[in-house]
Amino acid sequence: MHDSIQRILLDEATILQRLNTLAAEITDDYRGLDLTVIALLNGSLIFGADLLRRIPLPLQIDGLGISSYEGTESTGQVKFRQTPVAQLQGRHVLLIDDILDTGLTLSTVRDHLVETSGALSVKTCVLLQKDVPRAHWIEADYVGFDIPNEFVVGYGLDYNEKYRNLPYIGILTPEAIAKG
Ligand code: IMP
Ligand code: MG
Repeated sequence: MHDSIQRILLDEATILQRLNTLAAEITDDYRGLDLTVIALLNGSLIFGADLLRRIPLPLQIDGLGISSYEGTESTGQVKFRQTPVAQLQGRHVLLIDDILDTGLTLSTVRDHLVETSGALSVKTCVLLQKDVPRAHWIEADYVGFDIPNEFVVGYGLDYNEKYRNLPYIGILTPEAIAKG
């Protein structure tokens, strides 16, 4: 285990096993439909790569750079680093993100796409859902795991852009948090 991690919440085998089920569900729901998956970056990079390789449908993939966190706190603002390039008119869209916390990020992007893209449907899929009262109204359509209200890193999730490449989801030591 990495020095900065005090506890592993979800190990790699557990994550991948859950992705098999989640991918099967998504495959059934979108069979025969024109699907574009939009991955919110950078957080859903690892999750998306593992999930989408388990979905044997002729889907399109696009990425959308977004940020709302500094350190371990939400800034309360969603910054778009670019807008999606894919043509979404007449297509079904599945937005994927690493974690549903306050709901700000996912609800902002979903509302933006619903209003501007001409997509036939916009659904959401997250690897993790935190057990907190959501400040912004959104319920993810697909959820990998429900987790307690703790700050987690790994498998795409970062602390100041670090730890994204850990193969598991873990909780940082107080020392690692203090170091920044
Ligand atoms: P929301 O907009 O508050 O729902 O937060 C969503 C974004 O905040 C996620 O895409 C993550 O980038 C970040 N985030 C929320 N909770 C955590 C966490 O526990 N660890 C790392 N990033 C988090
Ligand atoms: Mg993120």
